Amino acid sequence: MTAISFQKVSFSYGEGNFSMKNFDLNVEEGEFLAVLGHNGSGKSTLARLMNGLLLPDKGTVEVFGVPLTEKNLYDVRRRVGVVFQNPDNQTVSSIVEDDVAFGAENIGLPREEIGKRISFALKAVGMEGERTATVSRLSGGQKQRVAIAGVLALKPDVLVLDESTAMLDPRGRHEIMDVVCDLNRREHITVVLITHFMEEALLSDRAIVMNRGEIVMEGKPADIFERHEELLTYNLTLPRIGEICKRLQAGGMSVPDTLDAATLADAIEREWNR
Ligand SMILES: Nc1ncnc2c1ncn2[C@@H]1O[C@H](COP(=O)(O)OP(=O)(O)OP(=O)(O)O)[C@@H](O)[C@H]1O
Ligand SMILES: [Mg+2]
Repeated sequence: MTAISFQKVSFSYGEGNFSMKNFDLNVEEGEFLAVLGHNGSGKSTLARLMNGLLLPDKGTVEVFGVPLTEKNLYDVRRRVGVVFQNPDNQTVSSIVEDDVAFGAENIGLPREEIGKRISFALKAVGMEGERTATVSRLSGGQKQRVAIAGVLALKPDVLVLDESTAMLDPRGRHEIMDVVCDLNRREHITVVLITHFMEEALLSDRAIVMNRGEIVMEGKPADIFERHEELLTYNLTLPRIGEICKRLQAGGMSVPDTLDAATLADAIEREWNR
C-alpha cells in the first residue's frame, strides 16, 4: 500500500514566494526514503505537507489512501509523526517519561495504555534506563531520541525526520540513525528522512533530490551518488567516502568510485603493492 501520495500538489507561500507545482510523489508502506536538496529547495515544506501542518493549494496529499483535509488532520498526525531539527524546541516536560507521554496524553489514551506506550517508545530508542531522568541533562543525541520516542508513543505508521540529526555531533547522529534503521526494519515504520548528510541517505532504500520545489533526481542512493557531476549542479556533494575516492584519483591513484570502505581499502592496498 502507498503510505503517502502527493498527486499534482501545488503549494505556495504566497505570490512571488517559494512554490511547488504539480508535485507527484509516492512513499510506499515500509519504505525508507531519503530526501536530499540544497537549502531552500522545499524539503521542510514537503515534510509539513505530509502531516497537514500545511495544506496544498491544489492537488491532493493522501495518507494511506485517505485524502488529507482540514477535517482529518488530527487522525493524520497520529499516523504521520514529524521530528524536527532542534530537540530543545520539542521538549515540553522536564522529566523524560512525562515528555514522551505528552502527545499520547493529549489524544486521551487511558493511563495504563500510556504507561505501556512510554515503555515501548523508550525501549525502541534505547532510552529505557533514562525514564525518570531530567531532559535538560541529556546529551543532544539523547534529547533527540526522547523527541522521537514522543512521536513513537502515538504509534505512527510513518516517521518523518526533518534534519533531526543536524544539531548533533557524529556520535549523536549515529545513535539516531541506528534507531531509525531499527524502527524501519523491525517495527516496519515507513521512514522519510530529510537530511543534508549524504552518508545517512546511503542507508535508505530510495533517495530523491529536491531543487526549487521539484524532484530532480530519484533512485537508489548508490546510483544517485554515481551521478556526481549532476549532484554538483544542485549544490550537493558525495558522501565522505566518495569525496575521498575523488581526491585519491586527483592525486594520481587508480581507485574506483566506490561508497564501500572495504572496496576502497582493497584498491588502495593493491595500488600500494604495485
Ligand atoms: N512561512 C514561509 N513563508 C514564506 N516563505 C517561506 C516560508 N517557509 C519557507 N519559506 C521559503 O520556502 C523555500 C523552501 O523552504 P523549505 O524550508 O521548505 O526549504 P528546505 O529545503 O527545508 O531548506 P533548509 O535546507 O534550509 O531546511 C525557502 O526559500 C524558504 O525561504
Ligand atoms: Mg528545512
